[in-house]
This record gives sequence, structure tokens and C-alpha cells, in this order.
Amino acid sequence: MMATKLFARNFASSAVAYKKVAVLGAASRDANPLSSYLILLQQGGIGQPLSLLLKQKTGLVSHLSLFDIVNTPGVAADLSHINTPVKVTGHKGNDQLDAALEGCDVVVIPAGVPRKPGMTRDDLFNINAGIVKSLAEACARTCPNAHFLIISNPVNSTVPIFAEVLKKAGVYNEKHLFGVTTLDVVRASTFVGQTKEVDPTDVHVHVVGGHSGPTIVPLLSQTGIEFTQEQREALTNRIQYGGDEVVKAKDGTGSATLSMAAAGARFAESLLKALHGQEGIVEPTFVQSPVLADEGVEFFSTNVELGTDGVKKIHPIGATSEYEKELLSKCVPELKKNIEKGYAFVRSA
Ligand code: NAI
Repeated sequence: MMATKLFARNFASSAVAYKKVAVLGAASRDANPLSSYLILLQQGGIGQPLSLLLKQKTGLVSHLSLFDIVNTPGVAADLSHINTPVKVTGHKGNDQLDAALEGCDVVVIPAGVPRKPGMTRDDLFNINAGIVKSLAEACARTCPNAHFLIISNPVNSTVPIFAEVLKKAGVYNEKHLFGVTTLDVVRASTFVGQTKEVDPTDVHVHVVGGHSGPTIVPLLSQTGIEFTQEQREALTNRIQYGGDEVVKAKDGTGSATLSMAAAGARFAESLLKALHGQEGIVEPTFVQSPVLADEGVEFFSTNVELGTDGVKKIHPIGATSEYEKELLSKCVPELKKNIEKGYAFVRSA
């Protein structure tokens, strides 16, 4: 009763969303149609601030289930004192993984090692591929119908790994699997905003492709903003390699965590709103996509409209300049290699 009142008060400023969600709450998610059971697999550099942000998504999240191989009970106790109605539980160690996953609707996965200076995302493959594979197996077993948000790098390979594990288990639903590339879009808005001295929140850049160096293709020509070729090249390079700036500045202690948490929370919030019935929500994300399928690229990031069952409509790349066509021609072979590497890992296991 108390919780219902709190939800109502929180949604007072967005009554339309409240009504839509309530009507479409028939989705078999939770006893409370306004809420979702959400789990964050991991409590590291990204996981902790992301959990903090999600604890505040009152009305979208009913239960935040935190899992890691270390530290989770402390983080959960700490977060649980924040006065929102979102319930928080902490689960530590692999023997608590299934309990953490049971009944959840959305699973966010930033588990695994981050980069150190000089490393590419692909250098993380040997460690993170195994972590993601074992988490995917647990998800296939425990919550096969959930929506899975993969943050762990290399995203270009971990998403195919996750898909392949679900396929092997006979529970793959391509509408429910997302590689989180939101940070590339967030960075693109920021860097363009700085260059053009405009508010970055008003800048929307369609970033397509994958999530590593040359596979990140910002389509600056679609912004409607004029750039010199020098600006275009500098911005493209900075968007593609912005993660390296953070890795270098952190000097061996990790990669982007706070900006990633903000980007991850943005994507999770967008998906949760769409799952609750809000319409017209579009985010770029790395999904199984028909966009370049005839070139053999099975997963690709473009703008995707989200709906009550995950992926609703995959938008095309749209108009591109000659410069962007060239970027895409460099993206495609690299992305195909990364995707195949993910598949090969599961198939050879
Ligand atoms: P971190 O080292 O701070 O945290 C990693 C956490 O994963 C640790 O708490 C560790 O205990 C946990 N972990 C390890 N094995 C696990 C398992 N089997 N199950 C559950 N948890 C497990 O690393 P950070 O900085 O949080 O980065 C995490 C991942 O996110 C990295 O792979 C990094 O490259 C990636 N990343 C992705 C971005 C994107 O845009 N998609 C941006 C930035 C980072």
C-alpha cells in the first residue's frame, strides 16, 4: 500500500507514462505491473555506480538483485538504505547465481576485466569470453525469457557468445539480447557539443557498427551540423578511441566506469520504459540485425526502436557521406572477424 502511494507520487509528473504502463502491465513480469525485477551481474567499477543509479529508478524497477563473486552483500546493504521503494538483495559467489537470477526480467552484465593502457578490447577476450559464457549458461537455465544487456568487452564478441549459448540451450530470442554501445553515443554528443560550443544534451549522433576502434562509425553527416573535414576526422577519431583517453588517464587502474554507468543506466531506463509500454523510444544498440546481413554481418548497431518485447524495429543506417562509407568499409571486415571469434569460442568449447 505504502509502495503504491510512493509509485503514484513519483509518476505524478508523468501521468501519461503511468497510465500507459498500467494498461500494458499485463506482460507477465511482476505482480506489480509498474515494476521490473532487474539484476546487475557484477559489483565492480561500473556495477556499483550503475546500481546506485538504478536504485533510483522508482516505478521502473521493483527489485535490484546484485551478483558478484566478491563484495556484493556490503554493496547491497549500503544501497538498501537509500529511501526508494526499490528492493535490493546481494548475492555472492557462483552458488548464489541462480537465486540471484530467478524471476528477473532484465539482466545487466558488466562482469569481467577492464583494459589497461596499451590494451585493445580484443585483448580482454581470453578472460571475459569465459566469464560471459558461464553467465549466459546460468541465464539460459534460470531466466531464459529475460532481456540481456551486455556491457562486458569485447562487446563485438561477447554478444555473439551470449547468443550462441542461448541457441545451444534452445532459448535464444534475438529481440532480447543487446550489446550496450550507448557510451559511444554519449561520447559523440559530448565531443560534438564541445567542438561546436553547444549543449551536448541537444546533440544526437547516430553511431553505428560495433564497439571497438574502427568498428565504431559515427554518422556526423546525419546531425545536420556543418563540420570542416579536419573537424570531422578529429571528432571521428576521438569518438572511436575516446575510451583510450580514460584508460590512459586512469594509468593502469581501469577504464571508463562512471560515464559507462551513466550510459548503462540510460539504456536500461530506455528499455524498462519500453517494456512498460512507453512508445517511441529509440536507442542505438548492438543487436542481431538485418542491416548488413547480406554482407555477412550478423550483429550490428543502428538506432533501434524498443517495445514491450525488446527490439521492436531496427532502423537502417540511413544516408552516409563518402567519408562515412569509407569508415563502414573498414568496420565490416573487423566486425565480422570479432563476431566469428565469439561464435568459434562457444562452438569449440
Ligand atoms: P572491474 O574490474 O572494476 O569490475 C569487474 C567485476 O566483475 C569485479 O567486481 C569482478 O569481481 C566481477 N566478476 C569477475 N568475474 C565474474 C563472474 N564470473 N561473475 C560476476 N562477476 C564477476 O571492471 P569494470 O571497470 O567494471 O569493467 C567491467 C567490464 O565492462 C570490462 O569488460 C570493461 O571492458 C567493460 N566496459 C564496457 C564498456 C562499454 O561501453 N560496453 C565501457 C567500459 C567498460
